[in-house]
Amino acid sequence: MKITLTTGSVINEAVDLAILACLEDAPLAEAVVSLIEAADFSGKTSQTRLLYPRGAVLPKRLLLLGLGPADKLTAETLRRAAATAVRQARDLQVASVAFGLNDQLELAPALIGQALAEGAELGAYRYLRYKTGLKPEQTFAVEAMTLVTPEASEEMQAGVALGQTIARGVMLARDLVNAPGGSLPPAALANEAVALGERTEVTVTIFDKTRLTEEGFGGLLAVGQGSANEPRFIVMEYGEAAEGRPTICLVGKGLTFDSGGLSLKPWEAMTTMKSDMGGSAAVLGAMQVIAELQLPLHVVGLVPSAENMPSSTSYRPDDVLTTLSGKTIEVLNTDAEGRIVLADALFYAQRYNPAAIIELSTLTGAIVVALGSHATGMMGTNQELADAIKQAGETTGERVWQLPLWEEYHEMIKSEIADLKNIGGRQAGSITAGAFLAAFVGDYPFVHLDIAGTAYAEKPARPYDVAGGTGVGVRLLTEFLRQYTR
Ligand code: BES
Ligand code: ZN
Ligand code: ZN
Repeated sequence: MKITLTTGSVINEAVDLAILACLEDAPLAEAVVSLIEAADFSGKTSQTRLLYPRGAVLPKRLLLLGLGPADKLTAETLRRAAATAVRQARDLQVASVAFGLNDQLELAPALIGQALAEGAELGAYRYLRYKTGLKPEQTFAVEAMTLVTPEASEEMQAGVALGQTIARGVMLARDLVNAPGGSLPPAALANEAVALGERTEVTVTIFDKTRLTEEGFGGLLAVGQGSANEPRFIVMEYGEAAEGRPTICLVGKGLTFDSGGLSLKPWEAMTTMKSDMGGSAAVLGAMQVIAELQLPLHVVGLVPSAENMPSSTSYRPDDVLTTLSGKTIEVLNTDAEGRIVLADALFYAQRYNPAAIIELSTLTGAIVVALGSHATGMMGTNQELADAIKQAGETTGERVWQLPLWEEYHEMIKSEIADLKNIGGRQAGSITAGAFLAAFVGDYPFVHLDIAGTAYAEKPARPYDVAGGTGVGVRLLTEFLRQYTR
């Protein structure tokens, strides 16, 4: 979408659709006061009124959009408002929309531009890849948005560009999650990373099964051995380690489909398991954004990718695996496979001597029970790092909520016959999974983000979400890394 800025008031624009976003109980321009009163509009959060002013003001249609009270206004309010605006334009088949902010908002111009651009782009997103015979009105896309504000500035314009770059990363992640497991096996996910490397300054290396065997990726190989679609390990590297250029490792679970393996899931739990690579999608999306923004960092993206299938070659309950670290895992349930592939990837991350390891995975159903789809579960071994991620969650609206990793939880996953067992019983399922992962990161500052509830929306909760992949993590990681470089 083309997003441009002009200074002025949206009610003076002769356009097919103008959006007037208003704070609650804020003073208004003369010309709209009577219109607004007639529309019973107070500016409450998310309130909308579509008016046909018939010459009272210049726009042919005017959508009043409530932003709520001034003291509660955040970037998230604007993201949602822009998404609502674009959806309205699409419904009305208006290709070019003017979005007006008449009030002076208590937010930095750059943040206003960024939030509006993110909301507009993400609100316009659809996944139509497998729809056939669509009529033109069903594929209609809004092409342009003009932001009309009292004072359009260069800062705001730069914010718009940033928001669009970030949104493209989110949409890449959404596309990857929405792709069915059958069309995106590990080798295809690896190809997506290679393609990313071709269009950005990211260096990509793919380990195939032979290489994984040579190197000793015993966890990843075991999980992948039941599928004809062989596992891959994806290494993406942006920048290089240097003085003032710390290394950050991003690790993403890349299960292109999780049937549960021999511990087979019931069908209701198996649908949506194409999204079990949501962590890897976030890492690919974030790598793209980081490279496009040229952040002064060394960022390494690591994705262990496999398909978890039941067959005569599958790994089984009772098997004992030797991971890349040398640590052994007793398998009690083949459906707790994410932590097994991540064990190898997290251990591998240590070779970069990173300042932080941030890992994202659709790891446990238990986190969905605990937090629903409104927050990502977080566990960590370094509070400063966890606090920074939490802050990024508040800024981006990709909220995280922390759970403890006390010693008692580590006790719950000790095995009688191996070093660790891959499930810890019914209690504290998300935390024992996090404790399991923490056993493979050494002393490096580590944060685990369980996105099982947030990576895939069966019913979207925000105007800029759609049913399917949310792209969660891309905005969170980008914000964290941008702040990290300050
Ligand atoms: N991929 C699932 C977790 C999941 C559940 C993601 C729901 C998204 C939505 C994971 O591999 C899994 O199956 N975990 C098991 C662990 C259990 C066997 C200890 C679970 O949560 O049931
Ligand atoms: Zn599973
Ligand atoms: Zn899984």
